Formats: sequence, structure tokens, C-alpha cells
Amino acid sequence: MSERVAIERAPAKINLDLRILSRESDGYHRLETVFQALELHDLIEARPAPVLSLEVEGDIDVGSARDNLVLRAARAFCDAVPGAAPAALRLVKRIPARAGLGGGSSDAAATLRALNALGGRPLGAQDLVEIGARLGSDVPFFLCGSALARAEGRGELLSPLRALPPAPVLVVDPGFPVATRDAFRWWDERGPDTVRERPLPMPLPGADFESLGRVARNDFEDVVFERYPELDRVRARLVEAGACLARLSGSGSCVYGIFASDAAVQLAASGVAEVLAQARVLATRTAG
Ligand code: C5P
Repeated sequence: MSERVAIERAPAKINLDLRILSRESDGYHRLETVFQALELHDLIEARPAPVLSLEVEGDIDVGSARDNLVLRAARAFCDAVPGAAPAALRLVKRIPARAGLGGGSSDAAATLRALNALGGRPLGAQDLVEIGARLGSDVPFFLCGSALARAEGRGELLSPLRALPPAPVLVVDPGFPVATRDAFRWWDERGPDTVRERPLPMPLPGADFESLGRVARNDFEDVVFERYPELDRVRARLVEAGACLARLSGSGSCVYGIFASDAAVQLAASGVAEVLAQARVLATRTAG
């Protein structure tokens, strides 16, 4: 008898645009962003087992196992599905952690999909999104089934958009993390004058990354670049190297550039090494 196994890809994301609109009374922030999935991905494998377990493969530090979003997602799934069998989970980790690429959130979404597949799909898409939203604000994007989506609220109110033709991307991991919670706190510390409505133009300008690059911004850059000016230098170098859109991803720490060709990505990669010697560069593509 063949062993039952569910394998799910967990793609990374970048934020093509991110605007913080206001701080709510519960401390969370209302924002508008555009998520773009990447080819760069982790893998989640799930097999039925007598007890829940997680094995992590790869040289990326994912922090303590207890806090791991994969295990939290698996527990949340079992709570929502009475009688759901436990699973042995394997995570093949390639996406840098706490780096603004949504790796942990995507792993959680892939875990929910894998366990649902293994259990004969007891939950519908909307049930998975509701569980996912409680695990983290970025998780619903990875369950929406679209590679490009606009998000509002905390990031959980999604409007899928028609995917753009895949383009080469260089992701620069500076080798240190930025905690999302800290970046929002830095934003709050700047005072109420910085909290104002600046909605993203809709429909998105043009059907290509270049048009979007002309209007795109990321409100986290002000406060993150102030503390880590080397990230601003990396972004400037990516623009110099020909990126049509280069920004901090989410609250960082990764900076990315979208380019017209793979050759331009390779050239940009060598330029980045001159600005930040310890940076790790990852060449990938936007998912279409
Ligand atoms: O939702 P997630 O767990 O990814 O958020 C991490 C932290 O970032 C939250 O604890 C909160 O402090 C902050 N956050 C926020 N507003 C959001 C999303 C996250 O203030 N829309």
C-alpha cells in the first residue's frame, strides 16, 4: 500500500506597495498593500502519524519550534476539525525568516492546505482563510489562490488581481532580521501627523511593473531606513542597476528589485556586494 503524503509549495511574497493608513484602538494598523508571490518557495510535506511533529530542513534559523507557525497552524486545523488525525510535518526552508518575505505565513497556509488535503478536504476555502487570519495578517494572501492581490484591513481583506507576466527579481537579504512589531512601533513613535489617508491609486496604474514602479511606495522605509541606512543604499544600488521597481519588502529586512532580464539581475547582484558585503542575494522571478 502506498504511503499517504500531501506536499504543498509555500511561496515567498514581496509587497509591491505598502501604505499604513491608521492605528486602530486594538493596537493593530489598517493598511493597504499589493502582494506579489515569488517563485522562491519553501515546501511542506504532511504524512499521517500517531502524534504531531515537525522536522525542519535547510540552513535558515526558524526560531523556537514551539512558536513555529507551522505547528500553530496544525494545532488550529485539528481544533477546527474534530477527529482530525495528527501528522508528521516536514518543512524544507529556503525563504529567509523575519525578513518581510512572508515565509512563516506562507508555511502556515501550506500546512493548512496540506492537512486539509490529507484529511479529505473537510474544510472549505473560506474556513481555511478564517483560521489563517487568526495565525497572522499575511496568511490569507497565501490562501487566496492568486499570485497578485491588493489587501486592506490588517492585510486580510483581499482583492485578487490579474497576474502580470513573470519578471526576474533580485531579493537582497542583509543578514539581520527586522521584527514587524518593532517596525509598527517605530511608525507609531513618529506621531499622529504621519498617520493620514493615502490610498493606493486603483485600478493599479498600467499592467506592468514599470508603471507600478513610478507610483509605488512602502511607508515602512522611512522608519526602517532611518535605523538601517545600508538598506537604503542597497535599494539605491538596485535602482542604479536598472530595477524598474525596488523597495523594502513588508517591514523588512529584505530589499528587492524587479528587472527586465536575468542578465540585469546578475549585474545587480555583483553591485549589491559592493554596498553590503555580508548580504545574501537570491535570484528568483515573480509568480504568474
Ligand atoms: O499579524 P502578525 O502576527 O503578522 O503581526 C505581527 C505584529 O505586527 C502584531 O503583533 C502587531 O504588533 C503588528 N501588526 C500591526 N498591524 C497589522 C499587522 C501587524 O500592528 N496590520
